[in-house]
Amino acid sequence: MLETERLILRPWVETDAEACYQYARDPRVGPIAGWPPHTSVAYSRQIIRDALMVPETYAIVLKATGLPIGSIGLHHNDLAEKDDEAELGYWLGVPYWGQGLVPEAAREVLRHAFEDLRLARVWCAYYEGNEKSRRVQEKLGFTYQWTTQEVPVPQMGETRTGHVNLLTRVAWLALQSASA
Ligand SMILES: CC(C)(COP(=O)(O)OP(=O)(O)OC[C@H]1O[C@@H](n2cnc3c(N)ncnc32)[C@H](O)[C@@H]1OP(=O)(O)O)[C@@H](O)C(=O)NCCC(=O)NCCS
Repeated sequence: MLETERLILRPWVETDAEACYQYARDPRVGPIAGWPPHTSVAYSRQIIRDALMVPETYAIVLKATGLPIGSIGLHHNDLAEKDDEAELGYWLGVPYWGQGLVPEAAREVLRHAFEDLRLARVWCAYYEGNEKSRRVQEKLGFTYQWTTQEVPVPQMGETRTGHVNLLTRVAWLALQSASA
């Protein structure tokens, strides 16, 4: 479990299905990140079981209510296949956008990644047009690496242009000393 000023980051549990569905059903959340809106509480429960109840994926829980409002995690994939790398991914329920909550959660997840897990590199990507996510990554100190055309987005049955950013442990440490 991780903690910030306004948030608890803790593993997803099946009983979060209703809260998850409440936000993940909104078409403004999943599709821009590459997954379809959730269609029912049962569907959300299945996604929690299959995709969210995995190591280093956390429900973003608002301390004020004790309920999950989004998700954040570190994943291994094509972009981050080495043991000392991960890709950061996140989403948040629309009613909570614009309060700096994902940057707040991500700063703690990045601290955890570099200090506790001793990762060397954290990647983060977004699809063309996702200005909100681009901005989050900029605020976190990620730097632009490359753009790929025609990235397959299997869950949406289409291809998109993808932009890839990186934060290395060295750059993260430099940011910490600069802000100390
Ligand atoms: C991207 C996302 C996680 C940002 O979370 P957040 O906690 O709202 O982040 P911030 O509060 O820092 O806002 C980021 C930017 O979004 C924009 N924004 C904020 N509130 C907004 C709102 N209500 N409507 C539209 N845009 C908004 C602003 O440009 C803001 O940048 P700023 O700090 O320069 O003003 C959230 O918008 C989201 O879940 N989007 C859908 C899923 C997604 O894109 N996931 C990432 C895939 S790569």
